[in-house]
Amino acid sequence: MQNQENSNKNRGNNGRKRKVPATHLINWVGGKRLLRKYLEPLVPDDIISYMEVFGGGAWLLFYKDKWADLEVYNDFDSRLTNLFRVIKYHPNELRREMRFMLGSRELFEQFLYQEGLTDIQKVARFMYVITRSFGGRGETFGTVKKSCGGASKSHKNLMDRAYAIHNRLDKVLIENRDFEKFIKQYDHEGAFFYCDPPYTFGAGYAVTSTKDFDHERLRDCLKNIQGRFLLSYDDSGKVRELYKDFEMVEVERLNGINNRQAGERKNKMFKELIIANYPIRETFYERFHRNSA
Ligand SMILES: C[S@@+](CC[C@H](N)C(=O)[O-])C[C@H]1O[C@@H](n2cnc3c(N)ncnc32)[C@H](O)[C@@H]1O
Repeated sequence: MQNQENSNKNRGNNGRKRKVPATHLINWVGGKRLLRKYLEPLVPDDIISYMEVFGGGAWLLFYKDKWADLEVYNDFDSRLTNLFRVIKYHPNELRREMRFMLGSRELFEQFLYQEGLTDIQKVARFMYVITRSFGGRGETFGTVKKSCGGASKSHKNLMDRAYAIHNRLDKVLIENRDFEKFIKQYDHEGAFFYCDPPYTFGAGYAVTSTKDFDHERLRDCLKNIQGRFLLSYDDSGKVRELYKDFEMVEVERLNGINNRQAGERKNKMFKELIIANYPIRETFYERFHRNSA
């Protein structure tokens, strides 16, 4: 059952209870909001454990209430793993820390340069900067002209979502390891790894820069696992060559961030590959491209 139907209950306006689905917490560069509907049917239903190796904003993990008995979120960027740990174990302290953090350019700029002293302060400021910046990049204040999104988004909605994610994380383990150690540690026959590594071109955050990401090391590591992997990547010659021995399908979608910009970049399409070490083509074409199979 998908999250849209989940029944997390949180306080809404006027103290009334309302349902907030745990679909996501933050936008993250390379977040798979638009790809998850293609990925979801390709996840086998007989898996014993579900691992997000490059967790980021964990859009696929949060797409369902539960994928497997054991679920693990991993990311090498400790700002993310601290964020999810604090949401999991200290949601009330985080809410207290954030209670006066409403949308403000001055606060945004202060938090960019003063990351905070305690773990909870750091997480609160990180969450503030990511959620109120342009495209979730944590760089520039997310000014909006026409809607109430960006920097002016509702603080109450943000907190409600944090509580929904707190419930969703109840049994999810959180790890902060390099992908190779992580995969080796959790690999077994019934294991499933969703891998969404940095793209082979630029774009990323300073902490886990895409520039030095070793794509060959990832391929070599995945090639020898006992479990199954599903991998999403930019559609490039390099990726096609690295994974030529595996099944792959192509997906074309609107480029999330660019599409929110005006001018030439609006409505630009972005091509991605979905790759696996088990059969996916038939399910994919059956579901999405009946005529082009
Ligand atoms: C494309 S993003 C993942 C986006 C995520 N699927 C989502 O929906 O938001 C890639 C992530 O890989 C992480 N990363 C980069 N190098 C890593 C490494 N060596 N091991 C584990 N994670 C790494 C980055 O911190 C980043 O969050």
